[in-house]
Amino acid sequence: MARIELKDVRKVYGGNIEAIKGVSLDIEDGEMIVLVGPSGCGKSTLLRMVAGLEGISSGEVTIADKRVNELEPAERDIAMVFQNYALYPHMTVRQNLAYGLRNRNTPKDEIDRRITEAARALEIEPFLERKPRQLSGGQRQRVAMGRAIVRKPAAFLFDEPLSNLDAKLRVQMRVEIRRLQRSLATTSIYVTHDQMEAMTLADRLVVLNAGRIEQVGTPIELYEKPATTFVATFIGSPSMNLMKLGNGAGWQMSPDARLPSSAATIGIRPEDIVIANGHAPGPVRADVQVAAVELVGAESYVHALTADASPVVFRVAGRSGIQIGDSMGLTADPSRFHLFDAAGRRV
Ligand SMILES: Nc1ncnc2c1ncn2[C@@H]1O[C@H](COP(=O)(O)OP(=O)(O)O)[C@@H](O)[C@H]1O
Ligand SMILES: [Mg+2]
Repeated sequence: MARIELKDVRKVYGGNIEAIKGVSLDIEDGEMIVLVGPSGCGKSTLLRMVAGLEGISSGEVTIADKRVNELEPAERDIAMVFQNYALYPHMTVRQNLAYGLRNRNTPKDEIDRRITEAARALEIEPFLERKPRQLSGGQRQRVAMGRAIVRKPAAFLFDEPLSNLDAKLRVQMRVEIRRLQRSLATTSIYVTHDQMEAMTLADRLVVLNAGRIEQVGTPIELYEKPATTFVATFIGSPSMNLMKLGNGAGWQMSPDARLPSSAATIGIRPEDIVIANGHAPGPVRADVQVAAVELVGAESYVHALTADASPVVFRVAGRSGIQIGDSMGLTADPSRFHLFDAAGRRV
């Protein structure tokens, strides 16, 4: 087990493409860190720099307090799990699991013991003598996990390991990865573009935007106190509504809303908007017309437009009876607002 430290790490590709623009991060022993951000923001690059698959242009990476910048991947005591499994097709599951250990001259009875242990934890004992092509996608992903586990590395590095699986299996595997990571207490960095996966897996989330850290915190901290409009709209589904102040975006604010003068943008989560019909007008109000209703089961997401055609999304009960074209007044409690300045930073 080990801490991982990144100190002002940068990556420049081909002399001028700056993919990672100075990232510093301390990862605690046993912690599950999730790197999340849109495609192309530098998640894989950063992970591969920790793994040793990509050179570090400047800055320092330490694993267990040891500088690893100059070490080969095999010398870093880490195990990686990818989305494409990277299993050897001509080997059985057992041979795939044993391969990395044999290369390190692990004694045979120790290899057998670790394989039995990992196979039991991952419930792949019945498939040990099969070849990867005789397994389902979910089973292959378990084998890939098993291969990482048997190594007993200082850290696990995951790069979107579940993105090839169907939605139901993805949820199931995500719960299992969380359970395994907790029980093994192995320091882990997990990369995903899926904010839901990030929220449910992370001890702490790191939101990356164009090669920089936008915010670090527990999932609930990021949800309740996003530091920037980028984090505000990236975390949470449906996304937070953002309204620019002062250009008549369709929301009427009375002075009772008591907004600070530095606030340029208001963010309201879809669950914080309520239908105001029949109530006395509160300090905040918008008259909207419904453009679409998405029924997702227990609830519906209503997409509406304000008088000046700004979009608003809010949540209602599943069978709400709300129809496209309906007109209604919306309100929200100003204490639930997220306020951002002109640069998009939380006020
Ligand atoms: N080998 C490479 N050469 C040049 N540019 C690269 C290379 N790998 C990645 N990049 C660029 O670096 C940025 C980050 O890529 P990547 O780390 O793969 O993003 P993510 O994993 O978040 O989708 C992208 O703009 C990408 O085009
Ligand atoms: Mg990637």
